[in-house]
Amino acid sequence: MNRTLHPVTETPLRFWHRDAVVARHHIPPDRTLLDLLREDLRLTATKEGCAAGDCGACTVVVAEAVNGRLQYRTVNSCIKPAHAMDGLALWTAADLAQADGTLHPVQQAMVACHGSQCGFCTPGFVMSLFALYQRTVAQGQAVDRHRAHEALSGNLCRCTGYRPIVQAACSLQADAAQAVDETPIVAALHQLAAYPQTTGDYLRPSTLHALLQARAQHPQAQLIAGATDAGLWITQGLRRMPQIIDLTRVAELRRVERYPQHIAIGAAVNLQDAFEALAADRPVIAPFGERFAGWPVRQSGTLGGNVANGSPIGDSMPLLIALGAQLVLMASRKGRVVHRHVPLDQFYTGYRQSLLAPDEVLAWVAVPRPAPGEWLGAYKVSKRQEDDISAVCLAVQLHVQDGHITAARIGAGGVAATPARAVQTEAALIGQPWNEATLAAAQQAIAQEFSPLSDLRASADYRRTILGQLLRRAWLESTGYKTIRLEALA
Ligand SMILES: Cc1cc2nc3c(=O)[nH]c(=O)nc-3n(C[C@H](O)[C@H](O)[C@H](O)COP(=O)(O)OP(=O)(O)OC[C@H]3O[C@@H](n4cnc5c(N)ncnc54)[C@H](O)[C@@H]3O)c2cc1C
Ligand code: FES
Ligand code: FES
Repeated sequence: MNRTLHPVTETPLRFWHRDAVVARHHIPPDRTLLDLLREDLRLTATKEGCAAGDCGACTVVVAEAVNGRLQYRTVNSCIKPAHAMDGLALWTAADLAQADGTLHPVQQAMVACHGSQCGFCTPGFVMSLFALYQRTVAQGQAVDRHRAHEALSGNLCRCTGYRPIVQAACSLQADAAQAVDETPIVAALHQLAAYPQTTGDYLRPSTLHALLQARAQHPQAQLIAGATDAGLWITQGLRRMPQIIDLTRVAELRRVERYPQHIAIGAAVNLQDAFEALAADRPVIAPFGERFAGWPVRQSGTLGGNVANGSPIGDSMPLLIALGAQLVLMASRKGRVVHRHVPLDQFYTGYRQSLLAPDEVLAWVAVPRPAPGEWLGAYKVSKRQEDDISAVCLAVQLHVQDGHITAARIGAGGVAATPARAVQTEAALIGQPWNEATLAAAQQAIAQEFSPLSDLRASADYRRTILGQLLRRAWLESTGYKTIRLEALA
């Protein structure tokens, strides 16, 4: 779709592609990277399937220079504003083969393993394999099935089937002749990094102070982070965004800071890194985090965006509510930076509504470190294992002493207008012996506590039943049944 009817922006766009810096002017702030590639630059190897971040046909690879090396990640170009590429390096499926036609190892592996039939999904799969190649194979690491599944988790194929493609991923071998020469790219990206954008129609501040000022000066502008929600408002909702503030370059908000009592996760930390940081303290979070969307969405989408967007079926919030997370909200008022702390379980005021004021930004998510004796279970039920949104999500934090529950916090998703804390169910647990009778009382309490809706993901009855069954699972796991976890069986 041609979207050139916007008022023109003066914010220039520069990124590295095919051994050169591409500079473009007058790119509207809400023009997607896919439209830039296909329509403006006529690079049509990248396909449009769903235009919603779901299918992966539009996957490209971007890299950022960090400590003198390139960090590669996959991006759904259909929902990513083109301006988000500024200062980064970009590869599409047309950039991998050599000039004489010699295929890149990931393309060769797809041919050898018969990984393509109609071919529509293939450019996207090839790009996910290229990112996997650069992140593992080029670093001397082998690709096992788990890594292959993770890397391909954002790509759907309707005709070949996944076995040959996973086989292609697992067969990847390094080829020194085709290694990316990072030195000139890193040098070019350093030059481009000298241009933070604090004026124009696509603002990309690089400090927290500049972000808060931009928010105060342009209250009408659309704030975005990874755009994995906001990008769909452009492509599916046909919403226009004449001015955008992109917070993903704000250095302070890209940090994870560890303190004795809590971890502070900056709002611009992507979901992959955020879940890894949380899993370092609580390993049970790792498989839960891997159920969040697929690789491209986890590497673009942020924890701050998930919390601020406030979808009732968002995955991180039930977990963070169970962990007792607090939010740090910040604003610049009359030239002074002000901040306040809000417990996450009190943040939402209604369907996609929250306490966040128009001039405020969610800056940090503060998560308490585990206290001795904590038990945690986090569960997501969705139709697909990967790349799908929850029907129901439940996170349960318990402290059990001498067979009695001394503390309980439960977060639930998909069962109310907002992510919710199950306070009545907690009350049914606290002080009770952790046995089948208490479980039955808690199951009854949770069935009465929420009135879920029926929709395309699940019926209200199913959701209510699943809530009780997930509590049973928590009871079984917390009392020693390990083999009911798929990961344990694997
Ligand atoms: C294919 C696909 C699969 C998905 N799967 C899942 C899933 O499994 N589970 C799930 O929970 N979600 C899922 N999502 C939704 C989405 O990825 C998440 O909600 C993500 O965390 C949003 O983060 P973002 O950085 O992309 O936010 P954006 O899209 O950039 O922003 C979303 C909203 O939050 C606001 N916002 C962002 N950051 C801040 C901030 N720091 N302060 C104030 N406001 C802010 C923006 O203004 C905007 O209103 C999926 C999306 C797609 C496209
Ligand atoms: S076109 Fe389907 S994810 Fe982009
Ligand atoms: S090869 Fe046809 S959709 Fe994958």
